[in-house]
Amino acid sequence: MLDFISALPKAELHLHLEGSVELPTLRELSSEVPGDIYSFTDFQGFLRSYGTVCLLLRTPGDYALVTRRLLERLQEQNVRYVEVNLSVGVMLWKNQDAAAMFGAVSQAAAASPVPVRWIFDAVRQFGVEAAERVAELAVASTGRGVVAFGIGGDEVRGPARCFRDVFDFARSRGLKLVPHAGETDGPASIWAALEIGADRIGHGFRAIEDPVLLSHLRDHNIPLEICITSNVRTGAVPSLKDHPVRRLFDAGVPLILSTDDPAMFGATLNGEYRLAAEVFGFSRADLELTARRAFEYGFDSTPPSGP
Ligand code: ADE
Ligand code: ZN
Repeated sequence: MLDFISALPKAELHLHLEGSVELPTLRELSSEVPGDIYSFTDFQGFLRSYGTVCLLLRTPGDYALVTRRLLERLQEQNVRYVEVNLSVGVMLWKNQDAAAMFGAVSQAAAASPVPVRWIFDAVRQFGVEAAERVAELAVASTGRGVVAFGIGGDEVRGPARCFRDVFDFARSRGLKLVPHAGETDGPASIWAALEIGADRIGHGFRAIEDPVLLSHLRDHNIPLEICITSNVRTGAVPSLKDHPVRRLFDAGVPLILSTDDPAMFGATLNGEYRLAAEVFGFSRADLELTARRAFEYGFDSTPPSGP
């Protein structure tokens, strides 16, 4: 099974650059890395650690380095297409030159054989004006591989309805919309994300609590970006066996397997496929279908023709 999973051509559609930085790389960047930086035990602790990592990324060179390292890891796993979330909302909060940072990461990406597209991510709890600035930067970079605008962070402290105008603006300028929703809040948060135009939902596993929502996602072909290990590590699900990935799949909801913040959670994309197989009983055919569909749900991907 492991060889089978490794050999599958895969697309990774929900991954944050800032969450992909392995501890040794963080230590290369700074001598002040807290030893317990990845030892959070709940979602708020995770958000604090994520903020700390972001603060350790200071220069365009830092961003270029972590991009190179990430793409090496993905290439090793036979990832043939990736959409990388960039926390532009956090960059602006840090008063960084986001355009310079994006220049550095896109240059690093151009040197990799893995095709990379970008999602500029705003932080829900930073508010609407901050999100508008992120959306404007995303729109200004559509010619350079930016395909979507997203909102992450705390869905409870930043309800989707507040971002309707920002989403309208981004959509009208050709961007796709990928909010995180239904991770730490329930189905109403997913409905709200759909109402403002979500093309895919980051996480969204709590759709399992609402049969009407499950049918809606299936009938409108709106995929959930499922990140099993992430949900366990942030405590969004009580335990691994409680994860509803199998029930979502059986309900015909379109799914994409993803890692979210691989270094912070100790996750790999191959590992997520392995969990699907070993814990949730996905057959080889199920995995093959899931992997192929991920390319179809990419905003600018070409499904691979051969192995
Ligand atoms: N930013 C990075 N990872 C995230 C997650 N799992 N939820 C919300 N915001 C995030
Ligand atoms: Zn995420």
